[in-house]
Amino acid sequence: MDYPFPEKFWWGSAASGPQTEGAALMDGRKQSIWDYWYSIEPESFHNGVGPEQTSDFYHRFKDDIQLMKETGHNSFRTSIQWSRLIPDGTGQVNEKAVDFYNQVIDELLANDIEPFINLYHFDMPMCMQEKGGWESREVIDAYVQYAKACFRLFGDRVKYWFTFNEPIVPVEASYLYNLHYPHIVDFKRAAVVAHHTIVAHARAVEAFKESNALGQIGIILNLTPSYPRSEDKEDRAAAHIADLFFNRSFLDPVTKGEYPLELVDILAEKELLPIVEADDLEVISNNPIDLLGVNYYQPRRVKAKENPEPDNAPFMPEHLFDSYIMPGRRINPHRGWEIAEEAVYDIMIDLRDHYRNIPFFISENGMGVEGEEKFRNEEGYIEDEYRIEFVKEHLKWVHKGIQEGANCLGYHIWTFMDNWSWANAYKNRYGLVEVDLKNGRNRTVKKSGKWYKLLAENNGF
Ligand code: BG6
Repeated sequence: MDYPFPEKFWWGSAASGPQTEGAALMDGRKQSIWDYWYSIEPESFHNGVGPEQTSDFYHRFKDDIQLMKETGHNSFRTSIQWSRLIPDGTGQVNEKAVDFYNQVIDELLANDIEPFINLYHFDMPMCMQEKGGWESREVIDAYVQYAKACFRLFGDRVKYWFTFNEPIVPVEASYLYNLHYPHIVDFKRAAVVAHHTIVAHARAVEAFKESNALGQIGIILNLTPSYPRSEDKEDRAAAHIADLFFNRSFLDPVTKGEYPLELVDILAEKELLPIVEADDLEVISNNPIDLLGVNYYQPRRVKAKENPEPDNAPFMPEHLFDSYIMPGRRINPHRGWEIAEEAVYDIMIDLRDHYRNIPFFISENGMGVEGEEKFRNEEGYIEDEYRIEFVKEHLKWVHKGIQEGANCLGYHIWTFMDNWSWANAYKNRYGLVEVDLKNGRNRTVKKSGKWYKLLAENNGF
């Protein structure tokens, strides 16, 4: 075997509650911002497919967990939906939700699949958004109560907890770039949302450590290595600034307990620092994570700013650098994302050298493809060779990082079965398992799923 992986390596996949469960308003669940946004603007979702039309994991989890076994999983990440567990955001816990999540966790464990549980995957309950969402301190308190309820209810069995998935995404998509509800474009408000999310995270970590729950707690960050166009000083400075805004803004506080000073200075100079309350920095500093999840899809390429923005233009991070399209870059045309496998190795070495060699795992990496039905073979399953190649090429670099001492504990592909991808709905398919929307959401293991089983069984390839 050319690429053997360490013993007990986690092989599995990642998914999320809002993207798989369905049963959107069933058994006491109430709206999240996604259900609400879909109710007012269904046309914003690819082919008008909304969050109630996901893969129905809510009813099919037992069969799905058997398919996880068939595809080699020894671990699986999903998220609890706050809007299902505590439908009013605070107060009463929904017993039907407790029963559902208990059953999922127990079924995973009974099948020797370690549950990795995330508490928040872009899914603010609508009633909490009405109170100001992450701009409101009250929502931080409510989130911490929700986190405590999860630790109390499920902490006797779940050993790996995550406070947030990609917390920078709601900051960018909902408060800067007009992509997700509530469609605000305002850097100052985005900075408040980011800071409050980090405080909420740190307070949840603190609550976890004070509880009797088993195991470890961390966060899942999407890291996008930031590469300069050239080795020129100006290009390198631009890449460094992009790195501060898009990676270190979250990575530093959750691992080192403090914001990068250079970023604080930039924001202070522009009078864009959020209000920081007395014990915010203390709680951040006292609660570093045990374990990091790294979602890696693509790098960011940057060059020095060519034309400065007018002084009165409302601030955006892109006022400090330009993006750069590298000649000859390879992209996944369906998603438009660059494919650059070696960047995953750069992340690993950075964590080894600058982040106390923190234990981490690749918590998402995957390839979304449109129109996969055309690759169906005579036996009726999709031959997604491109996905196998994509994973292999990334794993080669993960392997090299491990050989060189990075503390990587596993690899989770995004995702287990084709799922609902927010506003992209079912446009791009990512699964090891196909979900046939035309035929009762039937599941069929793809070639990548069969290969993934061998990969896990052999612990390498
Ligand atoms: C990650 C998210 O950013 O990428 C997932 O954690 C998401 O929720 C995945 O589905 C793939 O991105 P997209 O936008 O193609 O669905």
